[in-house]
Amino acid sequence: MRILATGGAGYIGSVTTRLLCDAGHDVVVLDTLERGYAASVDGRARLVQGSVGDRDAVCTALEGVDAVLHLAGYIEVAESQVRAADYLENNAVLPMELVESMLERGVDAIVFSSTAAVYGEPESIPINEDAPTRPVNVYGASKLMFERMLDWYGSRRGLRSVRLRYFNVAGAWPDGSIGEAHDPETHIIPRILGAVASGQRQFEVYGSDYDTPDRTCVRDYIHVCDLAEAHRLALEYVHSGGQTGVFNLGNGEGYSNLDVVRTCAQVVGSQIEVVFGDRRSGDPAVLVASASLAEEVLGWRPERPELARIATDAWTWHSTHPKGYRAVEEVVE
Ligand SMILES: NC(=O)c1ccc[n+]([C@@H]2O[C@H](COP(=O)([O-])OP(=O)(O)OC[C@H]3O[C@@H](n4cnc5c(N)ncnc54)[C@H](O)[C@@H]3O)[C@@H](O)[C@H]2O)c1
Repeated sequence: MRILATGGAGYIGSVTTRLLCDAGHDVVVLDTLERGYAASVDGRARLVQGSVGDRDAVCTALEGVDAVLHLAGYIEVAESQVRAADYLENNAVLPMELVESMLERGVDAIVFSSTAAVYGEPESIPINEDAPTRPVNVYGASKLMFERMLDWYGSRRGLRSVRLRYFNVAGAWPDGSIGEAHDPETHIIPRILGAVASGQRQFEVYGSDYDTPDRTCVRDYIHVCDLAEAHRLALEYVHSGGQTGVFNLGNGEGYSNLDVVRTCAQVVGSQIEVVFGDRRSGDPAVLVASASLAEEVLGWRPERPELARIATDAWTWHSTHPKGYRAVEEVVE
């Protein structure tokens, strides 16, 4: 299958592109490179630099494509609260150009990277796909808006879509050659490991007054390679006629922020002192997925569910790339 992966030069996109190439698929990446890196894109894929809202770039990238994987977007919760219009435009408005161009060319299958942030503060745990969607930040709202647009494109224009609602993604390609390089980094595992790699031994945990056993937030962590495999299955499902659906992707296991710090300390083999800061706005206390629907319909099961395995692979990447891709791209230039 020929797949267009928007945002394929980002963290999840680069890992997924490599896994799809390994599986024998032909991949075209469309990315502005605003927050991604050409050096992270597998050499077997074709990279088109441009936006999902730029018709010419989209048309070039769509040539011969059978299905689209739409990962491109802005992803930072805190930033979304202060740059609301940019998030709504980039995550919900510009991708309409992509969908219109797809349908003009008869491409009627899309897999969309959505997020657990669409649920907001959940009523019960684990969260299944029928849970109410009440995002508590602009990021979650922007992703939900695009999901709703996909519904309309489905009922009015025959577009089939699979929305994958990811929980907390972490880890790296196991040999450490590609991994997470956000700037600024807001995700807890790369923040801890990045701090250790740069010689710090103190780590700030946001919030110590949540209604959880150790008073810190609880999250469900999923290995980026398991997530990439779910994309492969979803693309093959929708390309072979599978119907529109929503699937949570997580491990079904919750770890508190203190569990995460302890596990990272074990993986790197050094002590990490915790200091407590304020809560971040828009952070629910507990987010844990039920991913049984993805198993039932897509045949997906995470193969690397252990937090220690996720942190170990992330450490292999961080310890060998303390400057992320910047050092790699300096050499290439
Ligand atoms: N990382 C997580 O834990 C997580 C969790 C839930 C959902 N997601 C979703 O997964 C997707 C990928 O996340 P990531 O962590 O790889 O993010 P990332 O920032 O590493 O990658 C996003 C990529 O999209 C590109 N991009 C942004 N706007 C674009 C546009 N208009 N046109 C073309 N390219 C554009 C960026 O340059 C970047 O390479 C996002 O849609 C995000 O909402 C991520």
